[in-house]
Amino acid sequence: KNNVNSVPLSSPASNVAPVLADIDWDNIGFGLTPTDYMYIMKCSQGEKFSKGELQRFGNIELSPSAGVLNYGQGLFEGLKAYRKKDGKILLFRPEENALRLRMGAERMCMPSPTVEQFVEAVKLSVVANEKWIPPPGKGSLYIRPLLMGSGAVLGLAPAPEYTFLIFVSPVGNYFREGLAPINLIVETEMHRATPGGTGGVKTIGNYAAVLKAQSAAKAKGYSDVLYLDSVHKKYLEEVSSCNVFVVKGNLISTPAIQGTILPGITRKSILDVACSQGFQVEERLVTVDELLDADEVFCTGTAVVVSPVGSITYLNKRVSYGREGVGRVSQQLYTALTSLQMGIAEDKMGWIME
Ligand code: COI
Repeated sequence: KNNVNSVPLSSPASNVAPVLADIDWDNIGFGLTPTDYMYIMKCSQGEKFSKGELQRFGNIELSPSAGVLNYGQGLFEGLKAYRKKDGKILLFRPEENALRLRMGAERMCMPSPTVEQFVEAVKLSVVANEKWIPPPGKGSLYIRPLLMGSGAVLGLAPAPEYTFLIFVSPVGNYFREGLAPINLIVETEMHRATPGGTGGVKTIGNYAAVLKAQSAAKAKGYSDVLYLDSVHKKYLEEVSSCNVFVVKGNLISTPAIQGTILPGITRKSILDVACSQGFQVEERLVTVDELLDADEVFCTGTAVVVSPVGSITYLNKRVSYGREGVGRVSQQLYTALTSLQMGIAEDKMGWIME
């Protein structure tokens, strides 16, 4: 269905969209603002997704025995749509999210939409909720695709039915600091992932597993937690919700993708952007010592974009980067990436989809 006007408006949504005029676009932050429509497509185990549709945004019905509720058989994605000054709506590399979802689905024993189905569903969801895309420069429409085992199970097994769903919400900055530097603490007891586990896919359980350390860190005034590898306990992995980069001189390094960290699309894009700007970039094992000795540290993610790190605390030692303010490299890469995403810079990489 390409025409959203064909969607029946009769079923009342349980989470009703607020009045658009009431939204304070300058202070929107990263919370859910319910919008008008969501996209839903279902299929049975062993079959392929074939036909989805837009529905009014609202609660969904699941069996208490659904695979996703009982055994965590679920994945999510995150991408953003931006409104350009000339009115065009831009997506950033949506095929990459589709491919990552497919990779994760294979790991979690789930069927997944094709890249074309995924991108088409994203476009429908954005166009149907077009009025919720913030004005240029005020944020973006965050697009949250979910893939879950929605069928009922009791014994441990893949669910008999799957649901692919997309909902969207206008968002601003992820960290309340905005582009101001965040303060991280290195977690030395709890780990996010282990070799052979699911740390490299965007399964929902990875994010529940970091809540305890994250809550403890926030209670102590830190913005978030940086995880170490679970074997040697000395190599950087990622922050709860984003990838991490260290800068030393002209060299920008980030932990290599080896199955325990998320292959971020912003991470990958920043590596290419940094390379094109003349930086030397390396994906490899990065030690805590290098982190503490860095000139600059920053995080990347769809939600956080490029977020400079102001300080790292490791075993009661606090190291600060730069003197207040945003580091030169973080600022340069932030500007380069967001100019592309918002359609201000020329899209030489072919990453933008209208
Ligand atoms: C994203 O950056 O889109 C994510 O999925 C991270 C999430 C914890 C907000």
